[in-house]
Amino acid sequence: MDGAGVIDIDGGRVAPPVHYSRETRWLHWATALLIVAQFALGEIWIRLPRADRAPLVSAHLSLGVLLAAVFVARVAWRVTGGRAIRFASAGAAADRVTHAVHGLLYVMIGVELALGYLARWSGGRPVVAFGVPINSPFGPFDHATHHLLGQAHSWLAWGIIVLATGHGLAALYHALVLRDGVLRRMWG
Ligand code: HEM
Ligand code: HEM
Repeated sequence: MDGAGVIDIDGGRVAPPVHYSRETRWLHWATALLIVAQFALGEIWIRLPRADRAPLVSAHLSLGVLLAAVFVARVAWRVTGGRAIRFASAGAAADRVTHAVHGLLYVMIGVELALGYLARWSGGRPVVAFGVPINSPFGPFDHATHHLLGQAHSWLAWGIIVLATGHGLAALYHALVLRDGVLRRMWG
């Protein structure tokens, strides 16, 4: 839990962890990698002739289901306190910005995943993950709604990439200019 010390075997308080837990770090970097891959796949296939798109769309759907599983695990891990870190405060205003950006990233990714499923299902097709079809629990959608869901998915993908790039640059600023260990606690 944030800020909580850990009770050692003699019943005394020991220093809280200075790193995110190993699981948190794996979940963070797996999410980051999968999101970049998803974005790249989508942006590449829309530039290909229709006949060549199928393998990339298929990879996008499989990785999308994997990403949804990683995301659910990550949120569950976070809300149950598994990330295990105490924040070294950078001042109230900076902390608020950091928390707002992280919170926004979580919300945007959650909405993007939902839009991905809906964009596929609304076209009357299943989400096929590694060969296993996941059929739509909904009835048919009209064409305009299908189109809108695809558009929203596409715009939000750009929003996530822009915000995540700013977030990554902020982490690099911490590492290279402030040298305060913020990147290290997520990296190693
Ligand atoms: C954060 C994760 C994701 C990102 C960044 C992402 C990104 C993209 C991008 C850039 C495109 C191309 C959009 C365009 O036409 O301009 C796309 C299309 C698409 N994605 Fe995703 N995607 C993600 C997750 C998912 C998931 C989880 C699914 C479904 C399980 C999914 C299903 C689709 C479908 C069906 C399309 C075609 C939409 C259409 O044109 O109607 N995506 N995605
Ligand atoms: C698509 C890419 C990325 C996404 C969606 C993402 C998302 C997030 C989120 C939601 C958190 C908050 C974790 C929590 O408190 O539960 C976080 C933390 C962090 N991320 Fe990322 N991230 C991405 C890429 C990167 C990159 C490229 C870097 C480094 C260059 C990075 C460095 C960090 C660091 C250092 C923290 C911890 C910040 C702190 O302790 O105050 N992230 N990230």
